[in-house]
Formats: sequence, C-alpha cells, structure tokens
Amino acid sequence: MPVDAATALLAWYDVHARRLPWRAAPGAVPTDPYRVWLSEIMLQQTSVAAVRGYFDRFTQAWPTIADLAAADESAVMAAWAGLGYYARARNLIACARAVVAAGEFPDDEGGLRKLPGIGDYTAAAIAAIAFGRRAVVVDANVERVVTRLFAVDTPLPAARPKIRALTDTITPDHRAGDFAQAMMDLGATICTPRKPACAICPVREHCAAVRTGSPESFPVKLPKKPRPVRYGTAFWATRDGSSWLQRRPARGLLGGMRALATGPWCAQDPELEGAPFAADWRPIGHVRHVFTHFALELAVVAADAPAHVQGGEWWPVERIAEAGLPTLFAKAAMLGCAAPSAGPAMIDTAGCGA
Ligand code: ADE
Repeated sequence: MPVDAATALLAWYDVHARRLPWRAAPGAVPTDPYRVWLSEIMLQQTSVAAVRGYFDRFTQAWPTIADLAAADESAVMAAWAGLGYYARARNLIACARAVVAAGEFPDDEGGLRKLPGIGDYTAAAIAAIAFGRRAVVVDANVERVVTRLFAVDTPLPAARPKIRALTDTITPDHRAGDFAQAMMDLGATICTPRKPACAICPVREHCAAVRTGSPESFPVKLPKKPRPVRYGTAFWATRDGSSWLQRRPARGLLGGMRALATGPWCAQDPELEGAPFAADWRPIGHVRHVFTHFALELAVVAADAPAHVQGGEWWPVERIAEAGLPTLFAKAAMLGCAAPSAGPAMIDTAGCGA
C-alpha cells in the first residue's frame, strides 16, 4: 500500500473512527496511558462490545493506576469475572504495582514488554496509541486487512512474519497510533471476515485481494483440528441459604477465581469423582464451555451440605451474582439456584477463556 493509501486510510479514520471510551479523537494528543493500557489488556482475545462495560466499571472503581495498584486483589478478580482469560487480571494487578513502584509507564516498546501481561502486540499498541511512537501493530483485524491488501497466500500462522514485515512497510512515521486504530476499525467494520464491504472501502484501489474476486478467502487458514472435549463434575452444595464455594489455585485455568468445587477434567466422564465431601449428590443438569484448547462439559450435581463441612466459603445464594464467578460456574450456579424444580438442562456457554 503506497503512502497515499495510508493517507487515504487516515482521512477515512478522521471521519469514521469509532468513538471508544479509551480513545483520543483522531489527530488529538494521546489519552492517559493507564486507559490505553487497561483497554489493550481487556481487548486481548475479546471484542470491543464485550469490553466496553468492563472498561467503564474499572475506570469508575479505579480511576488511576495508583488506585488499581492499591486495590484488593479479590475485588479486581471479581470485577473481571465473565471477561475470561483470568491470567490477564492477575497480570493487571502485578503490572499496575510495577508501574506505580517505577513511578510511570515506560514509553517505548522495549520497556513496556518487560511488564507483566504485556507481549509484543500490546507493547506496540501502547507505544503507538499512548505515546505516539512509530510501532508496528498487528492484531487479528490488521492481519486480515494486510493479507488482503497484499493478497498474501501463505496460510496462517506461517504467514505471520511476512504480515509483520508488510505492515511495517505501510506504517507511517507520524500518527502511528491513529494508523493502527484505523486498520483495526477498517477490519472491524468494512474489511470483515465474511462479506467485506469493498464497495465503500477507502483503500479499495490499493487492494490486491479485491482484484482476485474473492477477498474473503484471505487470510488463508489451514483446516482447524477438532477441539478435544473434557468431562467433569461441578458440585453445588447449599446450607441455610448459602452455597459452598472455593477459590481456585492461583495458577492454571480460571486461576484465583471463586468457583464451585469440581473433580478432575478427563477425556472420559469421571462421573461423581472428586466430590469435596460425601453427600447425597443428585444430578441437576450440564454446562458446556469452550476454552481455547478444549471444550469442557460439566455435569452439575447438587446436595444439602452436611453440618461438618469445613473450609471453602459460604456465599448467600440470593447474592450469587456478586460472587464474581467465571461464566462457566455462573451458569452452573444458575442450575443450582433453579434446582430442585428444574429438570436436567444443557447450557452451552459461548466464548473462550471465560
Ligand atoms: N482492539 C485492540 N485494540 C483496539 C483499539 N485500540 N481500538 C479498537 N479495537 C482494538
């Protein structure tokens, strides 16, 4: 894409940029790096639509990075519940503390990359958007736009180094942050995965894929391997109007989050294996959730907790929505709240990581 096409893209962005709460207006001085960083962490693997509400709640609860660094960890984890990929929330707190200890955000990619939870993409995005640095920013939207502009026919993921090099050739020295966000907006609103709106694309004249007649066939992807399925059991125990919850170990999937007790997650249904205590467990339904590398199907069972049960945390059932349960367990808890009147049910929870 020659320079005049980058100029055309920026001119389009000046008019059509999505107004998002973490953004400066096109051409304006970048906003507070705290807001840019927070939004970029939230937007990893997650859509703008899903992030908006979380971003507003976080910035109301913790308006500055110093507020977030001083926050109670369990309050941050609970506020993150439902957004998925919970390692991000743990890294968020660690990163906020590191930045406050250092006195300010580093303003270049190298310094940013040293912080918890900040990889190549996020360092480039923050350096460009918050600090106006020229940086090559490649997310999934940019990947799609670039493979189309240059009709890259190498399949992903092998094409990634080439895509990065091509993005470098078209990134302007000035307004690199606006350019990155213009590419993202183009990918999200016009250069969409299916049925791209090429007729109204500001860089149509420069696009090699549109000339092939099937722009939607880029990026080229190898057939996906089917996701394995794992099975397990979630245990909903109640006593005196409260349910028995546990905090999951800090490391691993859904680490550090409040949860229902579960047994092992196996390739074959382990049935009632892993009950936290002996009780009269009865089946009340199933929940299914798709993680990045596997799908999980949990049988949900319920029981009245015997009097001797210790450990864990008793949480009032009527306030279960405030427990900060990840989506998988929030759905299981819904079944628990509906039992015993509800019959067995299958709830399919969409999305990864939540
Ligand atoms: N995805 C990741 N970062 C983004 C941004 N700054 N604007 C829109 N979508 C994004």
